[in-house]
Amino acid sequence: MAQFSPTFLDELISRTDLAAIIARHVELKPSGANLVGLCPFHHEKTPSFSVSVDKQMYYCFGCGKGGNAFRFLMEHDGYPFPEAVEFLAQKAGMPIPASYVKNPKEEARKKQGLDLLTKVAGVFARCLQSDEGKKASLYFTQRKLPATIIQRYQLGYAPAGYGFMKRCFGDEPKILQQLESIGVLVSNERGFADRFRERVMFPIRDKQGHVVGFGGRILGDGEPKYLNSPETDFYHKSNLLYGYSEHREFVRKHKMLVVVEGYMDVLAMAAYDLPYAVAPLGTAITEPQLQNILRLHEAPIFCFDGDRAGRQAAWRSIERMLPLLKTEHSPKFLYLPDGEDPDTLLQKEGKEAFEKRLNDDAKPMLETWLTGLKNIAGDGAEGRARMAKKADQMLLNMSDNYLRQAWQSEIEKISGVALQQQKRPQFTASARHQISPKLQQRLIVSPMKHDLFMAALLQKPKYFRSLPEDAFNFFIDTNPAYPIYTRAFSLAGVEETTELDIAAQLMREFPDNHNIARWVNLPLVEDDEFQMLLLDMHITYLDGLRGRSEGLTVIIRINEELKALRNQQHKLNNSLKNKKTL
Ligand code: UTP
Ligand code: MN
Repeated sequence: MAQFSPTFLDELISRTDLAAIIARHVELKPSGANLVGLCPFHHEKTPSFSVSVDKQMYYCFGCGKGGNAFRFLMEHDGYPFPEAVEFLAQKAGMPIPASYVKNPKEEARKKQGLDLLTKVAGVFARCLQSDEGKKASLYFTQRKLPATIIQRYQLGYAPAGYGFMKRCFGDEPKILQQLESIGVLVSNERGFADRFRERVMFPIRDKQGHVVGFGGRILGDGEPKYLNSPETDFYHKSNLLYGYSEHREFVRKHKMLVVVEGYMDVLAMAAYDLPYAVAPLGTAITEPQLQNILRLHEAPIFCFDGDRAGRQAAWRSIERMLPLLKTEHSPKFLYLPDGEDPDTLLQKEGKEAFEKRLNDDAKPMLETWLTGLKNIAGDGAEGRARMAKKADQMLLNMSDNYLRQAWQSEIEKISGVALQQQKRPQFTASARHQISPKLQQRLIVSPMKHDLFMAALLQKPKYFRSLPEDAFNFFIDTNPAYPIYTRAFSLAGVEETTELDIAAQLMREFPDNHNIARWVNLPLVEDDEFQMLLLDMHITYLDGLRGRSEGLTVIIRINEELKALRNQQHKLNNSLKNKKTL
């Protein structure tokens, strides 16, 4: 992958207005030194999402997501890192250094492919409006899709015959090969032919809204009912969701997300003014798709046909979702009457009855899982044993410990069987270092202190200059903040580092450490508070050092130092008290 130079990335961050990037999705209001708003990464009613304008970092105190502008574009808008860099560079008017463009040829080819896909969607859409598309237009009318929906989702028509693409784009070998590479032409010994013929066309977009492929439905009956694009450089069916880019903003604003099975369900809901559905593309729902769904909204409703196939599909979704599930998620499952889908139900009973189903009949995932288990296991003592066994196996895949225990206790209540408490490895951050109980104790004594200390230093790096020489040892190496602290320490020693640079540079070097963004977004640590903290940290450190030291002269020296520090502490305390009573 391309390597951008650190100077380039830092310059780019300093020229980027993070608040403006975020304000496209979140309404931000000033609060103290920062801006706050409702977190776009999880559902909340009171704002816990903070943006530090000073340090160009955001952090959500509710869900723990945080980072810089690159991170936001990657996590929120699904940009790969190089594209996030390109996007910001373009906005900032900074040319990307030529040597860092990954592979200019490859990039140009990709762009051409996306442009061509957009053009193809355009010719299908025009064809639907032309005489040639009369039959298809009629089909959409029969299916109750109004013109506004046809326009908004850019629905189209691929006419009969094998040469529509050639008619539209000419027959130069180069363009034909390109059309093949984006999946709309197939080649055989006789040359190139249209893949989609006599079908109504549904353009499928990626997260950024580019058309990357198509679904095509036959008019009336026939096989296959739906034909989809083949896998191409742009179209990966297991990563895409129909309706995602079209509905993302609405879902965020209105806190509703429904997962349905088909294109027509997504569109029928939109036609009834319920533009918050997404659908997988003809395959059983995959883990990446579920991940995207849960990131978009923590309480999606999954709709399934109430028949056997529908129940099986629901079960598969549950299995795939277990590893992704966190305590903040609350997915629901809705079984529709046998043989119905959201499209047919909306036509039959209308909007309100359908909304009522969503609100009243959707069951929490746990309940759906328990019912499923009961059905699989059967009756009697053996049934209850089978139920517990199956549950135990499935719970192994759950990564959230608390959630797993809660679910386990539910299944134990119902089955009357104690689960084997299958042992699983603990993936905690500190698992890498084996911490002795004694050290752990020391860590627990002052987690707040170290945390606030880090916050103060990153908020105002000029504090680094007031640190005593032995401050380097304030954090023991098992403290999770240790690597950041020591790195910040050495960065602060460099003369020309500006205040923004330290936090920004740390963010770049530790991109997965959400604490950096949290520290800079914490309420500002005041100067007095910092002085108290510093004395406290220093005293704690010397106390520990005294315990580990030998030799009278050393101990006497430490004692003297401690006495002086305690004196300072006392004085500062008094002066603060006086300030407060004034
Ligand atoms: P359904 O067969 O339930 O169709 O397939 P539907 O969505 O209700 O379609 P209409 O209402 O008859 O037009 C559900 C989804 O499965 C995929 C499509 O994505 C479809 O929307 N599918 C279905 C295919 O990819 N290929 C097929 O042959 C059939
Ligand atoms: Mn249908």
